[in-house]
Amino acid sequence: MRIGILTSGGDCAGLNAVILAVVRRAVLGYGWDIVGIRQGTHGLMQDPPQAIDLNDQVNNDGMLRLGGTILGTINKGDPFHYPMPDGTFADHSQEVIDGYHKLGLDALIGIGGDGSMAILHRLAQMGGINLVGIPKTIDNDLAQTEYSVGFTTAVNVAVEALDRLQPTAASHDRIMILEVMGRDAGHIALFAGVAGGADAILIPEMDYDLDALTEHCLNIRKRGRNHALVIVAEAIKRDDGAAVTQGDDGQKVRYGGIGHWLADELGARTGWETRVTVLGHVQRGGTPSPRDRVIASAFGVHAVDLIAQQKFDRVVAWSKRKVVDVAMEDVIVGPRLVDTAGTMVSTAKGLGAYLGHPPTVVRTAKTV
Ligand code: F6P
Repeated sequence: MRIGILTSGGDCAGLNAVILAVVRRAVLGYGWDIVGIRQGTHGLMQDPPQAIDLNDQVNNDGMLRLGGTILGTINKGDPFHYPMPDGTFADHSQEVIDGYHKLGLDALIGIGGDGSMAILHRLAQMGGINLVGIPKTIDNDLAQTEYSVGFTTAVNVAVEALDRLQPTAASHDRIMILEVMGRDAGHIALFAGVAGGADAILIPEMDYDLDALTEHCLNIRKRGRNHALVIVAEAIKRDDGAAVTQGDDGQKVRYGGIGHWLADELGARTGWETRVTVLGHVQRGGTPSPRDRVIASAFGVHAVDLIAQQKFDRVVAWSKRKVVDVAMEDVIVGPRLVDTAGTMVSTAKGLGAYLGHPPTVVRTAKTV
């Protein structure tokens, strides 16, 4: 058997740990050959396809600890709507399918988020690709899995930032605002906010009220504390409903900057000196957390076992302390948002944090 593996979408910590687990299970467990495809589907699109032999990585135990992806990745390369140098878009899906067959692959493991998974699923259906998916994204917004590779490392980075911001906030009598990633889901902000003791946690799934947030901060002061920590997810909107973005690459908007808008508003309303930290891509880089290494290893082994059982169009998932697998069509249903009636929200509120309230307009994306 000859198995291909690729990483797709934004990188995160733990991708190399997945690759190592796949290589070890395939080579040591089954005696198969493993081929690594460069730059996601972009590598399959080339002629000849851009791929490397991965069998000798079986001894590379440094991969467990290594951030990024040794295969490279792209998050703007939808082959059905591929960006061309002249600014136009073209359909290159058939070249990707041809690349898989030219490499003589018997199956393909795709490590990606929901967007990548949807594209790979479509390619697999069209081109007879035996596909197994592995969820990764710092946003943790894939349906059907409690954890995606990369999430806990991103949360750890955000918690460390809050741990570092709290003493400087206390020293200077300030409100500190920490802006974190997550796109349209607030999982990073919510987990880090609880773990890092944030006084307010603003996530896209909840509507906040500036007057109520101001009062919440002033009450903290009245109770005798000279500082406050606020964590905001990058996709929360201004009070006029507008998102703060850094532009649009033709395929998706890039969020970033809402923390600065909020700092101006909150500083003016409370009269409290306010500073902002935008965490950005440090949440994606660096050494994976132990939990991410465990999830990555369990996912990698299970994905190879699925191929051995000829079970395709499946995605590995983490559920109730176990690795399981689910139908790919149940995963590509759009982002899994924070459950506003769930344990994390009630815990944060129970701790006295301000989160706002569920929106009056019902959102369609899943919370499961
Ligand atoms: O989906 C992962 C993610 O890190 C988001 O949290 C963030 O909005 C986006 O990717 C950033 O993308 P880019 O690397 O293109 O700036």
